[in-house]
Amino acid sequence: MMKRTYIAEPFRIKSVEPIKMTTKAERKKLIKEADYNLFALDSEAVYIDLLTDSGTGAMSLHQWAGVMEGDEAYAGARGYRKLIKNAKEIFGFEFIQPVHQGRAAEKVLLPILLKEGKFAISNMHFDTTRAHVEIAGARAIDCVVPEALDTTSKFDFKGNMDNARLEQYISELGKENIGVIIITVTNNSAGGQPVSMQNIRETHAIARKNGIPVLIDAARCFENAFFIKEREAEFHKKSLKDIVVEMFSYGDFFTMSAKKDAIVNMGGLLGARDKKVFEVIKQRCISFEGFVTYGGLSGRDLEALAIGLFEGIDEDFLRYRVGQMQYIGAKLEEAGVAYQSPAGGHAIFVDAQKMLPHIPYNEFPAQSLAVELYIEAGIRGCDIGSYMLGNNPDTLEQLKADFEFTRLAVPRRVYTQAHLDVIVDALIEIKKRASKIKGYKIIEEPPILRHFSAKLAPL
Ligand code: F0G
Repeated sequence: MMKRTYIAEPFRIKSVEPIKMTTKAERKKLIKEADYNLFALDSEAVYIDLLTDSGTGAMSLHQWAGVMEGDEAYAGARGYRKLIKNAKEIFGFEFIQPVHQGRAAEKVLLPILLKEGKFAISNMHFDTTRAHVEIAGARAIDCVVPEALDTTSKFDFKGNMDNARLEQYISELGKENIGVIIITVTNNSAGGQPVSMQNIRETHAIARKNGIPVLIDAARCFENAFFIKEREAEFHKKSLKDIVVEMFSYGDFFTMSAKKDAIVNMGGLLGARDKKVFEVIKQRCISFEGFVTYGGLSGRDLEALAIGLFEGIDEDFLRYRVGQMQYIGAKLEEAGVAYQSPAGGHAIFVDAQKMLPHIPYNEFPAQSLAVELYIEAGIRGCDIGSYMLGNNPDTLEQLKADFEFTRLAVPRRVYTQAHLDVIVDALIEIKKRASKIKGYKIIEEPPILRHFSAKLAPL
């Protein structure tokens, strides 16, 4: 069996944040009051918060010092110049615009590329990306490799685009109707799974042949680069920076939620190569986000991000970071708890359908497991399955997701090995009583991104 020792932290702790402890009886009451929606819990009610790895990382002393250095000028702030210099060096893009987070970049960019009747094809759209494709009037098509669908198959690059299917879609729908091809690195919705350089090259070649622009959704591009270095022979000896530059060389645009791999609490980037399109981006940014030199961020945020980019791409950090997921993964495997394996970069995606085979997709097994984890140990994860996917925008019928995952996303530089053991132990306990766990029904839901605010009731 795969044995994995914990890779010790390449940092020490200088400031701590106490966490409130709760009892099981208290948690049962709290989750009922939250209508079984984990987004409705107060964070003080949570012991280990794995809702997201986005904006929840711990900043370094260098970043906090940068916060103090922040230049809050409305125009021409020092931090803006520093950020653009660092971002250009790392991504090799000519034009880069800061924005306040990933979805802001999507809101600014996607309506330039998409409109009614058009399609976006991606290895997998993240939910806000899908939402912005739909808000622009277009439709989003997911096109991940079939290996991703079997959570137990050991495939190194389960995040890959199914390039044969991509070509088929292009010929069926007409290349003039595909507004953009989106490569999401890592592929969050498929389990934080990496996309290989080989695959990115092929996707790019198909896009070029058909005259379709490529957008890199770069939220976790450093974790992706680390996997490429470890798993693709050609890159074993390359620096992560060289790998990132090559990855980005295949994109015409990139959007980045910097709240993940750049280890900041708020921030995003939008990159373009075409000067004319970048002029449009800047104008839209001024309307939606703020003037170009702050892009919806405080000056202090620009500083923290400029520094975080280099901390996030550090190889020792990434080895420890990805190692945390591999540590949890190895323990779950030993215990016979199914998850999207091999472990991805930012989270463990527990296969809730395998844990709760008696709960059908429209009773939301992954949401059910997320609620149980909260009750069991105060752990907050979330559903990445049919509950999150929502309804067909045309027929309003509940969609069936390819996966029913309970995602346990690990914030960067926040939790210790002992916290990870609590997660594993809780899952083992729940597995013992799995057959008694029930599904949920939705009693109230908004039309878009419903999982954030829907109310549920146990069946
Ligand atoms: N793209 C991907 C792949 C993401 O994972 C996210 C956010 C976004 C875009 C949007 O970025 O939140 O800064 O607006 N993912 C978070 C998550 C929320 O929990 O996976 P944002």
